[in-house]
Amino acid sequence: MYRSLFIVPVSITMHRLQNRLFGRRTDDEPAPLRHPIDSQYGIDTSGVISYTQLSSGKAADKYNICYGGSQPSIIRKTLAGLANHHALTFLDLGCGKGRALAVASEFPFRRIVGVELAPSLVSIAKANAEVLRSKFPDRTPIEVVEGDVLAVPIPTGSVVVYFYHPFYRGMMKKVARKIEKFVKSNSGIDVFVIYYNPVYFDIFDRSKKFRRIFAKTIEFEPGEKGTGPSYHDESDAIAVWRSADGATADLSPRSYAEIKVVPPGWRAFVVK
Ligand SMILES: C[S@@+](CC[C@H](N)C(=O)[O-])C[C@H]1O[C@@H](n2cnc3c(N)ncnc32)[C@H](O)[C@@H]1O
Repeated sequence: MYRSLFIVPVSITMHRLQNRLFGRRTDDEPAPLRHPIDSQYGIDTSGVISYTQLSSGKAADKYNICYGGSQPSIIRKTLAGLANHHALTFLDLGCGKGRALAVASEFPFRRIVGVELAPSLVSIAKANAEVLRSKFPDRTPIEVVEGDVLAVPIPTGSVVVYFYHPFYRGMMKKVARKIEKFVKSNSGIDVFVIYYNPVYFDIFDRSKKFRRIFAKTIEFEPGEKGTGPSYHDESDAIAVWRSADGATADLSPRSYAEIKVVPPGWRAFVVK
């Protein structure tokens, strides 16, 4: 009796977890709704796509989690907290269809660059970039590069590196080492890491090259609920680190907030 009370809920939870990890939805969850930013801009960034449909033929495929776009309201609030956008390149590592890039184009960044592994998503991100370029000729144009993030160089100068839980820990560790090397060999520049759903936050928290300056779970805005990987989610966590030289003046109590990951490897929450 006790055994079945335990086993049944655990097996349902594991089934849901596996579905979520592999970009599949459970029977009781409707398909993701079209995101309002797509109607606002006339672009296509909606949906969740399993890693099985994102094959590039490269070794990095085995670390790929899935495609889903981050919530624009949460990116906007976070980018608004940065100063001097003109001096920074926004670099989305695993840009998917380019939703975060579209939001970044609302800010006067020096450059806006996305790197994406899956060729099918690169085509969509490039088409979206073209729509935005013709609608908003005064905005910074969006550049989309096809490839594995480990193979594509980090643009020169100060940079905001953006992630939305794109790959498993093994790849995130390698990418973090690459960013650390970049910081080490480019003294005097500012490097920010913005990590949406920071499931492997500990990699950056432990880095000697970075200090955490912000972490918060932020509510979605009306219209965004039902558009993400899980229909029932109403908020997401986001955290920001800054290269150690620049970060000392910025540390706030928020930066030390505890981050929990539940279920493991899937969703991060900032404990209030
Ligand atoms: C969760 S989506 C995030 C999309 C986008 N950053 C956003 O927030 O709207 C993660 C993306 O990372 C891509 N990706 C995974 N591994 C990659 C790699 N090694 N190099 C480049 N892109 C990768 C996936 O194909 C997927 O499109």
